[in-house]
Amino acid sequence: MAPRKIIIDTDPGQDDAVAILLALASPEDMDVLGITAVAGNVPLPLTEKNARIVCELASKPDTKVFSGCDAPLARKLVTAEHVHGKTGLDGPTLPDPTMPLQDQHAVDFIIDTLRTEAPGTVTLCPLGPLTNIATALERAPDIADRIQEIVLMGGAYFEVGNITPAAEFNIYVDPEAAKIVFACGAPITVMPLDVTHKALVTPPRNDAFRAIGTPVGEAVAEMTDFFERFDKEKYGSDGAPLHDPCVTAYLINPDLFTGRHINVEIETASDLTLGMTVADWWGVTDRPANATFIGDIDADGFFALLTERLARL
Ligand code: RIB
Ligand code: CA
Repeated sequence: MAPRKIIIDTDPGQDDAVAILLALASPEDMDVLGITAVAGNVPLPLTEKNARIVCELASKPDTKVFSGCDAPLARKLVTAEHVHGKTGLDGPTLPDPTMPLQDQHAVDFIIDTLRTEAPGTVTLCPLGPLTNIATALERAPDIADRIQEIVLMGGAYFEVGNITPAAEFNIYVDPEAAKIVFACGAPITVMPLDVTHKALVTPPRNDAFRAIGTPVGEAVAEMTDFFERFDKEKYGSDGAPLHDPCVTAYLINPDLFTGRHINVEIETASDLTLGMTVADWWGVTDRPANATFIGDIDADGFFALLTERLARL
């Protein structure tokens, strides 16, 4: 089968970095048409730089990286240096990028790509706040029908929130954008905390990254060593949750994941539950299903795939 054409929309972020490395290591599964940076974990000047750092770490300096929106649609930016460090990629010491940033704005790239490629052949992979995607949909409503699938990391239901008691970070940062995306009508697959918190980089799994014995393996192990401390302290978990790589792993082997096609709405009115993904997991409403909400993962299979693919770089 031909590789899926994808656009990765991202706010690197160590876990974004691993998701990007997995995609760039898997040309038989994914053709990365471009990487669009958005403000999120850290401000845009850092996310656009980090995206290029990761492409060069993968020895893929010809990857097209675009800079996108530097703030949510209607709110002040909330960042997550407390998790990812000041640079957003704390952990390894990686050189500043020398590859160029594309001149075109990320939103224009998303619109133009969806209008140029055949309908239903481009998958969007948002790994951060949905500001770029929502802005593209607002500016060019015609693209919604041309999207093959949106496979995003965001939200939470049984796992509840990680930035507030009710909300997961990506959705919380720009809930108005999330509302637009979840209402756009394109097929959506959601990787919420319910599943990403089951993809934990335990010490043996991080040892396996390090045992790859390459600069990529070492860098990923050092990224994990850094960003695991937040979750271990907060949840007492046995390692860092690899949120964003669940998105690109899904594109390689969807059988690693299970979920339900349900209705998911976004809270944008209440200060108390702002950014909550109200997932009708038990079908108690008659609201139409608009997303496949993933709840479980074959974690051993996920890490075996990830380690094997990272070793290619
Ligand atoms: O809540 C986890 C998500 O927020 C991940 O995508 C992480 O990179 C941050 O963007
Ligand atoms: Ca992210």
